[in-house]
Amino acid sequence: MPEGGAATAFEPVLFKDIDTPELYRRQVYEAHEGYAALRRALGGEGSERMTPEAVLEEVRVSNLRGRGGAGFPTARKWQFLPPPDGGPRYLVCNADESEPGTFKDHEILRKNPHMLIEGMILAGYAMRATRGFIYLRGEFAQPKRVVDAAIREAYEAGYLGRDILGSGFDFDLSTYLGAGAYICGEETALLDSLEGKRGFPRLRPPFPAVAGLYGRPTVVNNVETLANVPAIVRRGGAWFASLGTERSGGTKIFSISGRVARPGNYEYPMGTPLRVLLYEAAGGPLPGRAFKAVIPGGGSAGLLVPSQFDLPMDFEPIAQAGSMLGSAGVIVMDDSTCMVRAATWLMEFYADESCGKCTPCREGTKWLEMALERIETGRGTPDDLELLQGLPGQILGNTFCGLGDAAVGFLMSAVRHFWPEFEAHVAEGRCPSGGDGR
Ligand SMILES: Cc1cc2nc3c(=O)[nH]c(=O)nc-3n(C[C@H](O)[C@H](O)[C@H](O)COP(=O)(O)O)c2cc1C
Repeated sequence: MPEGGAATAFEPVLFKDIDTPELYRRQVYEAHEGYAALRRALGGEGSERMTPEAVLEEVRVSNLRGRGGAGFPTARKWQFLPPPDGGPRYLVCNADESEPGTFKDHEILRKNPHMLIEGMILAGYAMRATRGFIYLRGEFAQPKRVVDAAIREAYEAGYLGRDILGSGFDFDLSTYLGAGAYICGEETALLDSLEGKRGFPRLRPPFPAVAGLYGRPTVVNNVETLANVPAIVRRGGAWFASLGTERSGGTKIFSISGRVARPGNYEYPMGTPLRVLLYEAAGGPLPGRAFKAVIPGGGSAGLLVPSQFDLPMDFEPIAQAGSMLGSAGVIVMDDSTCMVRAATWLMEFYADESCGKCTPCREGTKWLEMALERIETGRGTPDDLELLQGLPGQILGNTFCGLGDAAVGFLMSAVRHFWPEFEAHVAEGRCPSGGDGR
């Protein structure tokens, strides 16, 4: 959508009131329909109290899919929990947010923590969990203070604790500041870290729904996923579904960064064309520049080139184009960006963050990082080029968890689309564009 086109009309869900001053305070949140869904579901004011099954059914109808990366249908994940056996079952919110180019959860946590808390109470009710944790990225000390204060307010109002709103439902919630490692965003490593161990991914099966935190049934959901639940319960699953595409309901927050006029978080309906995000939301390229490539789903996703900018930003179309919607961290590169530098910079991150548990990821990312650094700094050889052609394919699908696939996603797509740039670095012993890749 070039400059000057009609603005996209839609109803925001997550950012509806986001710029309201002090929205993080309970009374301000309540003045903007806050806790109305919880009152409706548990309090039964003027209507019948909703059963846990009824809340789950609204989420199923809403077509809400996980916003943490994989896009798994949220209600189906909740339904994987075995029937209650009298022992504890847990709901864990993944607020690790370490994916390069992704900064949406941070905004929700900092500006609208009660929306997440309300979503977690409702989700806990639907899946009959009575204990929740919010696992925050190690660097999120400031959001933690905001969320902790909001949790205290929710206890004071009777939204958390024993017999919530007289419903007989109990739910306790607390935060946990994580270990500051990318791998701790992977849900099983997160659970290890939450148990106080070093964050290593676990072998699956068993999946967390069956044996999660302390070996008990557990659901792990992303911040944005859970923050959608109050609106779904308040307005109905059908309404939420109607905002998005046939297979994916609601809106999505896109974190747009890099070479655009207005980087930032933007909420748009699921399925919005990438071009609309780039031009309407982010204001197009920087003056005098042209777009070269875009990573649509955080640093782990393959790049898209300008001829693909009309693709709808939804899980299946982006996957069919060889990339992924992932966390919807949209990283934009223009004609000043060196693709070798960009690939090197990303590989440095993954090599650094590989947890070391499995060989293909631990060794493969390091070898690729070294080859890319040599190529980028003019010391590359034809052997290094050969390594870039062969090694990523040996890592893909062969690592213990998703980190290995994440590490090679961008590189493989850059090799496919921009191979002459890699060759030119080796042939000329320098960057032919003089670009910096950032
Ligand atoms: C290496 C790696 C890092 C991840 N980091 C995050 C993260 O920071 N935040 C997140 O929500 N999900 C992350 N995930 C996905 C989680 O494992 C999990 O799928 C997600 O939290 C499920 O929530 P959802 O169903 O609401 O999407 C990561 C996955 C992998 C493989």
